[in-house]
Amino acid sequence: MKPNFSSRLKNCNPSATLEISEMASKLERKGKDVISLGVGEPDFDTPEPIKQCAIQALKDGFVHYTESQGIENLREKITQKLKKQNGVDTNKKEIITTPGAKYALYLICQGLIDEGEEAMLFDPAWVSYPEMIKLAGGKVKWCPTDENHSPEVERFKEIIHEGTKLVILNSPCNPTGKVYSKETIEAITEISREKDVFVISDEVYEKIIYEKSHYSPRSDYENVITVNGFSKTYSMTGWRLGYLNANEEIVNNLTKIQQHSVSCPTSFVQKGARCALTDEIDPYVDEMVNKFEKRRDLVMEKLNKIEQLSCNEPEGSFYAFPKVGVDSMKFSKKMLKKANVAITPGKAFGRKGEGHFRMSFANSEERINEALNRISVFLEEVLNSFS
Ligand SMILES: Cc1ncc(COP(=O)(O)O)c(C=O)c1O
Repeated sequence: MKPNFSSRLKNCNPSATLEISEMASKLERKGKDVISLGVGEPDFDTPEPIKQCAIQALKDGFVHYTESQGIENLREKITQKLKKQNGVDTNKKEIITTPGAKYALYLICQGLIDEGEEAMLFDPAWVSYPEMIKLAGGKVKWCPTDENHSPEVERFKEIIHEGTKLVILNSPCNPTGKVYSKETIEAITEISREKDVFVISDEVYEKIIYEKSHYSPRSDYENVITVNGFSKTYSMTGWRLGYLNANEEIVNNLTKIQQHSVSCPTSFVQKGARCALTDEIDPYVDEMVNKFEKRRDLVMEKLNKIEQLSCNEPEGSFYAFPKVGVDSMKFSKKMLKKANVAITPGKAFGRKGEGHFRMSFANSEERINEALNRISVFLEEVLNSFS
């Protein structure tokens, strides 16, 4: 029998990066030396003390359901972190821990967006936001960014209206590596507040930052829901743990969705995450960020020598977003076939991403060096065939 899928699902696109990663796997199976710069996860191991805490929790039999919002002493620790590091005065009743930051975003979309309502994104944006909005029945409204990848605040002011349901801000930004200035974030949040619109501040890359400093708008504005997670900062992508911080009314209502979907995040993972927020783990994070910064410098040094490309220096995250000015999907496929380097086509991130590609520097310096050498040769040889 042929299934008749819901219109919400029919409307949902598969990941635009899938085609490239499937092609890459095929080439690898044929024995090709493919360098993957497509990945969105740190290439480091989870710090050992975090693992030990989770192992101990398992040994102690901490293997049952927990409170739906997550264990109290993890939520307590998150509020301390938010107070100390982000200037957000909050309490444990305002936290939901979730299976990854992604699920926190999913809860927000499901809980706040009604059929046909608009949610605003800054173009280009992370691939999952538009699909989550559509899965909730909503419509995506794009607001442009300027040539430095910063939101166009004046344009935002013109586009936003009382019917806009929410605005998603992501700084440091995936895919551009841009860190938005405090003034820009404040302006967007203030304009949203005047229209009674919630701002979702996705701060998953807050610690992976090289220039400027991170600003959490929830420290000054109550129309903000903060989303964060453990995947990027602590190399814990596979553990699946994130959280959101919002007022109690939002938290109580979104918790209902969590109760009836996943029940709670995995019990022993929560114990590991609690350990991640202790001072003992800071040196591990510093070391990882220092390595990312060295790689970022290497990437920029090499990219600046390739005359066919231009690239704003990433100020945070572990992505560079060079402009090449040709069809990004064709370009990425050809690059993979000819140079065996896997990148992500810019069009996956929105209309403004077209003509760009995203390259992750979650790979060793040696492999990054080799990949950029291959990219340089590839561009010399084939770029003319695109024009
Ligand atoms: C901007 C952004 N937000 C959220 C996430 C989701 O992270 P998590 O692994 O915590 O679900 C990602 C992962 O790539 C991301 O890039």
